[in-house]
Order: sequence, then structure tokens, then C-alpha cells
Amino acid sequence: MPASIINGSELAKQIRADVAKEVAERIQAGKPKPGLATILVGDDPASHDYVRSKHKACNEAGIESFGYELPATASQKEVQDLVKRLNDDPKVNGILVQLPLPKGLDEEGVLSAIRLEKDVDGFHPINIGRLAQKGREPLFVPCTPAGCMVMLEKNLPKIEGKNAVVLGRSNIVGMPVALLLVRANATVTICHSKSTDLPGIIRQADILVAAVGRPEMVRGDWIKPGAVVIDVGINHVDDPTRPRGYRLVGDVNYAEAVEVAGAITPVPGGVGPMTIAMLLKSTLAAAKIANG
Ligand code: GUN
Repeated sequence: MPASIINGSELAKQIRADVAKEVAERIQAGKPKPGLATILVGDDPASHDYVRSKHKACNEAGIESFGYELPATASQKEVQDLVKRLNDDPKVNGILVQLPLPKGLDEEGVLSAIRLEKDVDGFHPINIGRLAQKGREPLFVPCTPAGCMVMLEKNLPKIEGKNAVVLGRSNIVGMPVALLLVRANATVTICHSKSTDLPGIIRQADILVAAVGRPEMVRGDWIKPGAVVIDVGINHVDDPTRPRGYRLVGDVNYAEAVEVAGAITPVPGGVGPMTIAMLLKSTLAAAKIANG
């Protein structure tokens, strides 16, 4: 039986509608509009697209958004001074620094400058450190990993005790999603480009999160029958039959995997839309920290 398709667009729409409703109720009750500030350094076109989508989504949810753009030549001090100014701005509840930063800037220094209560992306070293430690609670968790967990929770009666394999160990997705799975009491294996026998490791997975950025790398016969597959990859591959000359594929060969998995996220329309939905949720949470 083919896998059930996990519809991230639908789930994200529901979350965004819930956030919009709560924002409207807060405004009705006389509270200030939640506010998100984005900082975009340099001219990476993909980053510009992502940030534009974040502003549009804020607008639709009734969240005010403030976009700050700095040239790729901006100094460490200029970026951090901007972060500090936004830390002190009461209209700004959340601060998002779009990653990656241009070469030469110290990412950790910039992320450390964000006030913990405004770290809606959850990348501040203290929030990540708390995520990694037992008995500690981060104020925010990174948005894409949080979205993966929501999708898993909706499609698995129980995560506890399951074998989870995370393919990829990036700071933005692989590592934090592995930490979230550990917190959910899964048995977690992180594998990556240097792992030997990836197919053998992945065949053990009741839960597979693929976040390695390699188009259709995971083949159908690597997947344990019935597994839940969360494909975080968004890869462009040339396709002259498409109007734009390319199409988007995940890190998993979808046509093969859909015949084996129990449930699977499509690309596009799977994890992608969840990232922004979780960002809106975090911004609302930050507004509650600031304004009750
Ligand atoms: N770059 C790719 N994904 C993300 C994300 O979730 N947040 C930020 N700030 N940058 C990113």
C-alpha cells in the first residue's frame, strides 16, 4: 500500500490560521501587534526569497514585520549594533538573522547578541545548549526542526522508543531535530556524508529525517517498510520541460519511497511551509513573553 502523504501546506495553513486568530484576539484586547524583525546581510537570492515569504506570512497573520538589509561588506560591529538596537525596540518581539551570513562574519557572535527572549529562531547558543541538556528548557527551538516534530506527532501515535535516523548534521536542521527526537525519547542515530553503509543505517529507521541537501539521495530500498519519512531537502534539478527550467526535489527519491514508507512528506508542499508557520508561532510566543 502506498504511503500516506503528509500535507505540510495544509498543516501549515491551519497553524497560520490559529496564530492569526490569537493575534487578532490580542489586538482586540488592547495588546500591541506582535512584531518580527528580520536581518538580511548580503545579496543571496535564495535568502531574499525566504525573507520575503516570511514578511508576507507575518502580514497575513497580523504580525508587524520590519525588514533590515545590510550589504555583504557590513562589519561584525554593524550587524551586532543593529541586533542590539532591535533588542531594545519594544515593537520588535522576535529577531531573525537570515543564515547563512556572508563569509567573514562571525555567525556565533551575531546570534549570541540576540536577546534570549527575542530569539525566535532558537539559534542563540544558550537556547541550543538548553535544547541539548536534560532538565533545561530552551525558550525557542529552531523552526524547521519544530515543524518536523509537529508532522511526526501527527503521523505517529508514539515517538518514544522508535528508531529515528537523521541524515545530515547541520546547525539549522540536522543537529537540532536530532536533539528534539532525543527529548521525545526516540533512539537517535545521526548519519552524514562520512558515515559508512548509509543504506544499512537508514533501513533501521522507523522515523527518517533527511536533511542532507543531496537530490534524491535516499533510495526506496533504503527505507524500512512502514517508516515515517520527513524529507527536509529542497534541491533544484534541471528540467527543461518546466517553465522555469528546473524542478524541486527532496533528499529522498519520492517515487520509490512512496511505495515503501508508511507516511512521507512531499517536496514541495511538505516541510517547507511548516518552517514559516512555526516562525509565526514563535513570534506570537515572544509577544506573550514581552506583553503577557
Ligand atoms: N536559513 C535556512 N533556514 C533558516 C532558518 O530557519 N532560519 C534562518 N534564520 N536562516 C535560515
